[in-house]
Formats: sequence, C-alpha cells, structure tokens
Amino acid sequence: MKQRFLISTGLAVAACLAPLSNRAQSAESPDARADALLKQMTLEEKIGQMVQADCTALKDKTDVQKYFLGSVLSGGDSDPADNSVQSWLKMAMEFQELSLQTRLKIPIIYGVDAVHGHNNVLGAVIFPHNIGMGATHNAELSEAEGRVTAEELLGTGIRWGFDPCIAVAEDERWGRTYESYGTSPELAGELGAAQVRGLQAGEFSTPVSVLACAKHYMGDGGTHGGKDQGDDRCDEAALRKYYLPPYAAAVKANVGSIMVSYSSWNGKKMSANKYLLTDVLKNELGFKGFLVSDWAAIDQIYPTDYKKNVEASVNAGMDMVMIPKGPGSTNNYIDFINDLKALVAEGKVPMARIDDATRRILRIKYAMGIFEHHDVDPALTAAIGSAEHRNVARQCVRESLVLLKNSNHVLPLAKTIKHLHVAGQAADDLGMQCGGWTISWQGKTGAVTPGGTTILNAIRHTVSADTQVTFSADGKGAQGADAIVLVIGERPYAEMMGDRRDLSLTDSQKEILRNAKQAGVPVVAVLMSGRPLVLGSALDSADAFVAAWLPGTEGQGVADVLFGDYNFKGKLPRAWPRNNSQLDSLTLSDPLFAPGFGLAYANTEKTASASSGK
Ligand code: BGC
Ligand code: BGC
Repeated sequence: MKQRFLISTGLAVAACLAPLSNRAQSAESPDARADALLKQMTLEEKIGQMVQADCTALKDKTDVQKYFLGSVLSGGDSDPADNSVQSWLKMAMEFQELSLQTRLKIPIIYGVDAVHGHNNVLGAVIFPHNIGMGATHNAELSEAEGRVTAEELLGTGIRWGFDPCIAVAEDERWGRTYESYGTSPELAGELGAAQVRGLQAGEFSTPVSVLACAKHYMGDGGTHGGKDQGDDRCDEAALRKYYLPPYAAAVKANVGSIMVSYSSWNGKKMSANKYLLTDVLKNELGFKGFLVSDWAAIDQIYPTDYKKNVEASVNAGMDMVMIPKGPGSTNNYIDFINDLKALVAEGKVPMARIDDATRRILRIKYAMGIFEHHDVDPALTAAIGSAEHRNVARQCVRESLVLLKNSNHVLPLAKTIKHLHVAGQAADDLGMQCGGWTISWQGKTGAVTPGGTTILNAIRHTVSADTQVTFSADGKGAQGADAIVLVIGERPYAEMMGDRRDLSLTDSQKEILRNAKQAGVPVVAVLMSGRPLVLGSALDSADAFVAAWLPGTEGQGVADVLFGDYNFKGKLPRAWPRNNSQLDSLTLSDPLFAPGFGLAYANTEKTASASSGK
C-alpha cells in the first residue's frame, strides 16, 4: 500500500508538477538559499515570518502583505464560507497570491489541524482518531493515512498539517486521550514517525510533500490528574523516559515543524522553557525545523504582560507564534509584531535569535519547494473523499477494532442471518463515529459530513438480500430477532471539553443495553469512544464486546469484521480500567484488560485466558 501511494500517486504527480527549470534552480541547498534571502530582509520582514495568524483574526486579508506574515492558519472553527473543497482551495490560493506580491515574494505556508484526515473540510475522508491507529500497531497504515491526508490537503492548496499528535496520554480522564496513540512512548514514536513520512512524502522536497507538525512538545499527556493544559509533575529522568522518545523518532524522520505544548513542567510553561526547547530539542536532538506555539499559548506565560511573553517565548526558542486574535482585541498579531520590534531595539531579544527563527522557517519553505510550486493539481482536488482514499481509511478501521469478549462464538455474524436488530442511536450517527476535530472543533452528532457510512448502513450493505434489519435508537423492539448489534458511544468533544472525572457508562447507554437484553437473544456490543470507559456489568451482559474507538467516516470497516470478511487484528494501545478509582494511579495495576489485549476469531479462547485474567 505504501508503495502504491508513494509511487503511483506521489512521484507521478511530482514529475508532472516540477518543470525542469525549477529543478535546476533548486540545486542550491535550502540552507544556502535561506541565508542568501535572510541577508536581504528587513527586521519587519523577518518578524512577519514569525507570525501565524488565524484567518478569522485578519482584519483584512491584505495584512498578510502589509505585515509580511509567514503563515496563516484555520483553527478548529475557522472554516471558509460554505466549507466546501472549492472554497478552501480558493482561500488558500488567495493568501498565497497576496504573499507572492510582497517585496521578496516569500510564500506563506497555510496550516490546518489535519489530525484524522483533512478533517475540517466537508466531504474529506475521516480516519480513525489516533487511539484507533494505536490499536492497529501498524506503522505502514499510519504512513498510508499520512499520505492520503497529505493528498487531500494538497487538493485544497494547503501544505501544512498540525499532525501527528504524539502525546503519550497517561491518564485517560484527559479529553485528548483519543489524539494519543497510547501509553507506549515507542508506539507513539513509531506510528508518529510513519505519519510524518506519509505527510512529508519521505523526501520532503517534492511538490507533494506536506509539512508535518509533531505535537505537543512535550508531556501534554502526562499532566497531573489528566487535566488539559495542566502540569507535569515529574523529574527530568521521567520526562525523558516517557515523553521525549516520540520526538526523537519524529526528528529522525525529519519532521519539519513541532508545536510546543500549552502544558507546564513542574509549574513552568513549556512555551518559555529554553532548556527543553533549545538545549534539548534543537541542540541535543538536532531538530532543524521550526517551532510553532500553540493557539495563543504564549499569552499564558505571564497572563498580564504580553510583551514579557513575547520575550520569554522567543528567547526560549519559539520560532513562530500562533495568534488567533486580530486588531481590536488584546494580544493580537500587530501587538506581537510591535512588541518584538521593541524588544530587539531594547536589546532584550538578540538579533541572532530573530535570524535563527527566520532562517529555520525559510529553510523549510525552500526545502518543500513552495517558492517554486504554486499550482494545485486538479487531479488531487478531484480525489478528495475518493473511493481510493476511503478504502485506506476502511482498512485502518478494520485493523483498529479490538475484540474484548466473544462468548459462544457469537461473532462473526452470518451474512445470511434472518433477522438482525441494530440498537442505539450511535449506530446511525456519523458525527459520533468521527468524534471531535471533525468539521468543527468540538465535532457534533448527526450527519456531519457528506459521504461515509454509518455502522447501520454498513450492516445493511453487508447482509444478504433476504435478511431483515430492524433498528431502534433505544434498543427496544428486538423481539424475534436472531441477534442484536448494539452500538453505544461517547458524544463528540475536543481538548478540555472532554476532561472527565467519571468514565462510567451513562444511564442512557446502560438503558439501551437493558432494553436490548429483554429480547433474550445474543447481544454484540460495539463501543465507540475516545478512550476505554468503565464498563461495569455491561461487559457481562453482552455476549460479544468490541472496542471501535472513533473510527471516522468509514463504518463499513466495522461491518467487514463483524461479519467475518476480515479477522480482528487490533490490540489495546493502553490498559482498560475496571473502575474510576483506578484512574488515580498513573500506571494502572490490575486493569480489566492489559495493553496488548485483543481476541481474534481463530484463537478466541486461548488469547482470552492468557491476558485478561478472567
Ligand atoms: C490545540 C492544537 C491545535 C491548535 C490549532 C490548539 O488549541 O491545542 O492541537 O493545533 O489549537 O487549532
Ligand atoms: C479554535 C481551535 C482551538 C481552540 C483553542 C477554538 O476556538 O477553533 O482551533 O484549538 O479554540 O481553545
């Protein structure tokens, strides 16, 4: 699969987009070109490169020219007009055009959160969130996901994705647990590096590479109590053991950008931690790309003194600052520019630091060829949400499913089953399948995006023509069925909005199960969630139990495995807790299921007794 993408799509497109003259031109190294350009730049032009403004913050799009901005982003809720592929493309092209009309014609680089596919755009394919990718333990799939995501980004003229999140989420009460591959630093490194290779097209210098952004450096998933943007309370040895290895792997994979975490280490904000940003990441690990701050994150260093934040973060090694606010509000991009200019004049930020930050940004822009390649291949635009892309996501879904229980071999279901009842609203809800960071920042329930298949529809496509499929949102009315597929799930959330103290199933989830049980036929439960939930007696009540994580738009992958066209391959990427009180300890001892657990059709009994301790 990897080869199919890199060779048939990637290189073919690269060849047709790169005219010979451009190739000859780029023979000079990105370093030499960045140095040469730097010499021609004014302080204003350099500082402009260090700014990344949210598109909704710009008072006028021409501010991109006026302030020589290096980057513009769309945050989770900053979509263009009707959020169609065409309006994204138009917006990206417009910003590029404006930047190309500046004195030095330095192209901007547009950035978006593409954390499970090009997830803000209507009709793009949505992949499983990282926790599901972690369950696949399959680096090749992660690379393929990165390649498809890159191609869908390129189809809208965007060459920077804030992805992969390589957080090692320890405490699953953290609302971003699903953005993490799991609790193993090695797994986060392996899958994260693969994602980087996919996005950046290996070479990182072809017109089909997209700049990856490993995030959030570092320890975002290790905060006390699983609090979002919280504090890591540990010594340096622990920090290096659990949170640094994925960054070492990403740097080795040549990641071009890294986003700095909102969180703190023993009370000190990462955004101002010179030791960790400059000494460890840049000098010790040899990171040659650039650092971007998180969304208004520098504002939190000294909440009342923005200028001091600019000084502290830039001097710590921040190269670009993400600024969501525009003129008229405090701490906007014009404040940043003025403050940084003043700090240089006052000798508080050395010119060498400004040069280093600018050089790093320019070097990446040269290495990616964005000075030369401005056109978007219409074939890539047309391929957004294509069947080929959806098939890659569908394979990810198949391999991400973890079978926790399968009494009496109730699974796989026969396609010729006479009457199957499907229970639970989640079975017919694309928004719940996708979770947060889908079309909008928080995600939402319902038909969030065109295309894709709910689990209910996938089941309908899979069973024989003679099968009767009935559905009830509340689990009632299953009498007379031969089996029930019950789907329950978490409602979508993102970031701090997903922080929870209680991870028990809700009363309504339990009620659907209770209602379904009344039919007295085998129940196959499918849980869609961003993390393991406390199952209580639900596990005993169901005959089979599947953890499906947040699979994304390709629900057909779930049906493929439930009906036995494919075997279960997924293994838990983190421990599954028995109860809420267990969550207080960082490493779950005596979990309900240990990391690595997962049954399969052929060896159900054997795997069950070996790992679950039940
Ligand atoms: C998140 C980042 C994201 C950024 C831009 C922040 O709140 O922490 O993961 O890349 O917003 O949307
Ligand atoms: C933005 C997100 C961002 C979040 C941070 C939202 O309004 O859309 O991109 O991550 O704010 O708080």
